[in-house]
Amino acid sequence: MNPLMKFLGITATLVLLAIIPIYALNEASFQSAIMTDMETESIVAAADLFAENCVVCHGAAGEGIGTIPALDSEALRTMPEEDLHKLISRGVDNTQMAAWNVDESGIFTYQQISDLVTMILTVDWSFVEARVMTLGLMPPQVVTLEITDEMLATIGSLEGGETLAAGIMVYAENCAACHAANGGGTTIAPALNTDALRAQPTEDLLAKINNGISGTLMASWKDTLSVEQIDAVIAFLQRWPEVESSGVEFPEIVVPEFESSPELVAAGDKLFHIACKSCHGVDGYGTAMAPSLNNPTFLADTPDAAIYQIIYGGVPDTLMPTWGVRLSDEEIRSLVAFIRSLETSTTPILQP
Ligand code: HEC
Ligand code: HEC
Ligand code: HEC
Repeated sequence: MNPLMKFLGITATLVLLAIIPIYALNEASFQSAIMTDMETESIVAAADLFAENCVVCHGAAGEGIGTIPALDSEALRTMPEEDLHKLISRGVDNTQMAAWNVDESGIFTYQQISDLVTMILTVDWSFVEARVMTLGLMPPQVVTLEITDEMLATIGSLEGGETLAAGIMVYAENCAACHAANGGGTTIAPALNTDALRAQPTEDLLAKINNGISGTLMASWKDTLSVEQIDAVIAFLQRWPEVESSGVEFPEIVVPEFESSPELVAAGDKLFHIACKSCHGVDGYGTAMAPSLNNPTFLADTPDAAIYQIIYGGVPDTLMPTWGVRLSDEEIRSLVAFIRSLETSTTPILQP
């Protein structure tokens, strides 16, 4: 072989050797970039789900509230992915940890639960906390309802007081985490201390508590609570104002309101007329397809964060679409500001 050819051969080999690792390296970092991107997407999606659905119990930074465990924990970070997926999908029987998978009558798809799992295994929780703050979904400070002997004595002295006392105990232990210690509702469940609820026939309340409301977090309680306990909690819900005026104090819960401004209301007004008017009517007066939104009872009972959540997540099994996939955070906030501004308008004319 002549020296030049030999030289070229060596050079070619060297060049090839030089190229292969660079190529391989790029391939690897390309792969890991894709992985990181997918992981980031999962975490960003999961942080929003967490903010809207888990914060009330597990805290904005996953630190746990009261007796409810932290999710920012080494034990969970080292748990096999599959086990964590199952836990969130199926919930924990006889605790407030509901089953979240749609197949278990929860509200999340398999993919959404996978995103939550990825988040719990890898996230820096200060990111989640910042996101929760941006969404205005910081949990109220008080989630537990402490029942003192004094409270029980006061309630006991009312007519049928024994049943009421049993009812408030059931409520504190099983319902307060979702429906709030003062019955005012949280981002994940509606208020129960309302005239609208008390206007419902006892059989309806019984059916909802016994059977749960499928496709929502409201589980069936008939295998967890006794017949007497369910009757007692219904009696308590129906006589809540009486219990309150007898001197029993429920914790004050300050639900943060969203920021509003004339510009935000105007933006919401515009969007409402494009996306919502066809069902909810001009200025939220309602149509035969959907309820009025300028309804004073609804507005008084529903905090901003809860209105946000209804718009973001839609109402399963009804015509109310899931807007979270189509509208930005800013757009949904503008709608909340607009709907809130209807509070000052006249009474609704249509209520299907
Ligand atoms: C109404 C309150 C409540 C809500 C809302 C809630 N959890 Fe829980 N969660 C609990 C309780 C209580 C436990 C402990 C159950 C037990 O005793 O094992 C728990 C346990 C867990 C655990 C296991 C923790 C451990 O260390 O074993 C995980 C993971 C978890 N929850 C994730 C979630 C996620 C994700 C969400 C939101 C989609 C959520 N939870 C919403 C109350 C709640
Ligand atoms: C894990 C959260 C969670 C817990 C715990 C929970 N609920 Fe609910 N509950 C909900 C949600 C969410 C709804 C709304 C379902 C829907 O969208 O219709 C609801 C709805 C209801 C309703 C119907 C409200 C209405 O306006 O018709 C009643 C009554 C009720 N819950 C009672 C209870 C009682 C009593 C307990 C305790 C024994 C309890 N809930 C515990 C989440 C919860
Ligand atoms: C295709 C019809 C339809 C469209 C479009 C629609 N909604 Fe709804 N919406 C409904 C129905 C039906 C309900 C009642 C669901 C139920 O039974 O709880 C509802 C309920 C609501 C509620 C809760 C009202 C209550 O009393 O509980 C709010 C808030 C709401 N919609 C806001 C909006 C906003 C904002 C838009 C536009 C971005 C919108 N909706 C677009 C059909 C619609």
